[in-house]
Amino acid sequence: MCDKLISVVAFLASAILVAESISIHQTYEGYAVGPKLRQHEKEQQQDLSKIPGIPGKDYPLFHSVPPTSFSCKHVPAHPGIYANVETGCQAYHVCHDGREGEQGASFLCTNGTIFNQAEFACDWWYNVNCHEAPNLYRLNLDPAKNPYVPKRKPEEELHFVPVEKY
Ligand SMILES: *[C@@H]1O[C@H](CO)[C@@H](O)[C@H](O)[C@H]1NC(C)=O
Repeated sequence: MCDKLISVVAFLASAILVAESISIHQTYEGYAVGPKLRQHEKEQQQDLSKIPGIPGKDYPLFHSVPPTSFSCKHVPAHPGIYANVETGCQAYHVCHDGREGEQGASFLCTNGTIFNQAEFACDWWYNVNCHEAPNLYRLNLDPAKNPYVPKRKPEEELHFVPVEKY
């Protein structure tokens, strides 16, 4: 008799728990699929847990390029691309004709990546020694490395292939 009562109470309690978790689940789903903006924000949110290291400590987490003392006046070549050391190299600048002001055109690498001055591209933070970047700025003087120096077209290259004697 007493056992029966306990099991009935237990049953009711578990039924309430199930009902509650369903309503929590529904609320959560309603939130998750909610307005389009939220969905958009969710897509923008990177899964930093898949990146080795501590976010914000091992690599920077800027959401926009902050003001820094970087200036295109102090770089060796225009046009050229330059890592911004003050942002842990997450920001980089394209210095060209001065249209964008003293900092040039400013960009950010995706979280987890920083600007690799040797490769002229964003790269995983653990592949890059940011503090080396200023020593590599002069690579912009090398027309083969500088992405803004027009490369010879293949048909022009052909011109330079030595003609074989028959
Ligand atoms: C990097 O992550 C932070 C924190 O989640 C975020 O605010 C920022 O917009 C992200 N930056 C980029 C460039 O995606």
